[in-house]
Amino acid sequence: MTSFPKVTTELPGPRSREIFERQGRVFYRQMHLSEGSPFILDGKTSEDFLRDVDGNTFANHLSAWGASPYGAFPKEVREATVEAWDRYGMEISCFLQSPPVVELAERLIALAPRNITRVAPTVTGTEAVEGSIKFARERTGRPMVLAFLGQYHGESTYLAATTSTELSSESSGYASYVPGLVFAPYPSRYRAPFTSGPGPHDDTVVIDYIEQWLLRHQVEPTQIGAVLIEPIAGELGVYAPSQAFWDGLERLRRQHGWLLICDEIQSGMGRSGPVWAGDLWGLEPDMLLVGKGFSAGGQPMAAILGTDEIMADSHVYTTGTYVWEPAAVAGALAGLDLLEPARRNALELERIGLDILPPLIDQYKEVGDVRQYGAWAAIEFVTNKETKQPNTAVQAAFHQAALRRGVFGISAPEKWVYRVQPALTMAPELFRWSCEQLVQAVGDVLDS
Ligand SMILES: Cc1ncc(COP(=O)(O)O)c(C=O)c1O
Repeated sequence: MTSFPKVTTELPGPRSREIFERQGRVFYRQMHLSEGSPFILDGKTSEDFLRDVDGNTFANHLSAWGASPYGAFPKEVREATVEAWDRYGMEISCFLQSPPVVELAERLIALAPRNITRVAPTVTGTEAVEGSIKFARERTGRPMVLAFLGQYHGESTYLAATTSTELSSESSGYASYVPGLVFAPYPSRYRAPFTSGPGPHDDTVVIDYIEQWLLRHQVEPTQIGAVLIEPIAGELGVYAPSQAFWDGLERLRRQHGWLLICDEIQSGMGRSGPVWAGDLWGLEPDMLLVGKGFSAGGQPMAAILGTDEIMADSHVYTTGTYVWEPAAVAGALAGLDLLEPARRNALELERIGLDILPPLIDQYKEVGDVRQYGAWAAIEFVTNKETKQPNTAVQAAFHQAALRRGVFGISAPEKWVYRVQPALTMAPELFRWSCEQLVQAVGDVLDS
């Protein structure tokens, strides 16, 4: 590769600004916030490059929020999608099936942990999470779900309650305090509840909290049917629990008969290195939720994977008009053939990121932590390492500096964790260049 991204105008540039003005008149508020992405997309010049309407180019570390894991133009996915469209057209697969629909379910099961034997298709990740709660209630006859503060599971009215990443923005101020949910803090060794200081902390305090407080004072263990957890919490800032936490959770689960639902909508399909983030700790969930990368950059696709006990004789209905329509299915099938090499490349990106980014922690008091799993990296900004007060101002300024250098990652003004989430297939040379730009961008903000 000979060329790197280049930004030559202010951001937004003049043409982007014009379109933002129009956009601001017609869309609802959340659709016209432009701090995170202050340019209007003109197209993609290659797999990993975005071009805006002012001619600026950026390295793409968004990858459609993880839904384009094989770059912008996976030829195989496109061809399979078009071919299936020509053959089947739009079809309602929950009522009238075609061979690829069955093949995709078989391939997903073959990819999943051993105990998984069944598939319930959905269109979006949100629906997969909602459906899994229905299955859990049907199977266990218990009403409650134990979830973790800071996780993200989508924007349905019910799930806004399990979605507590940032109450003010992510839940749009409409978090519904629905019954049937209890929460513990998400286990983190960087930010542990009820304790302060630099850490690393013992995240099994969360297990103690569940055992000593929640189960004693808030909810009977026999009322809890399932534990809903992201094995790596993406929106929260790419946090991953320790093995000791998982061991503690497994002990509680066995003791009380709780099902384990792993939301791998963002962390799965190679994003975090292994096929499933849960493989990092040998997890065997009763239900595994997939979405985003599963669509392979094609049409919307998601699913609930589950055990025979939960799904074989279930009366739960999770599907709908658009689930697994044949063209989307064909695209997802083609994507599965791309997964292994993409995953190996993601591990190469992990090595590069872990080589370049962590030294920032020692160089700057405002860089609290750097985390990376596969093609998924986060930089956490704080006011200082002792108090770990979130530093949203530095994070936001850093994002703008990175953009000026041609790196487009994930940021919002109220966030203090910045993350990059490129295609798993991003050219290692471009990823290395991007990480070097991120290091420079920290300097642009903090060295002056
Ligand atoms: C972990 C997780 N669960 C669920 C969802 C919701 O998926 P969707 O946006 O496809 O409804 C997301 C989306 O970001 C997610 O990251």
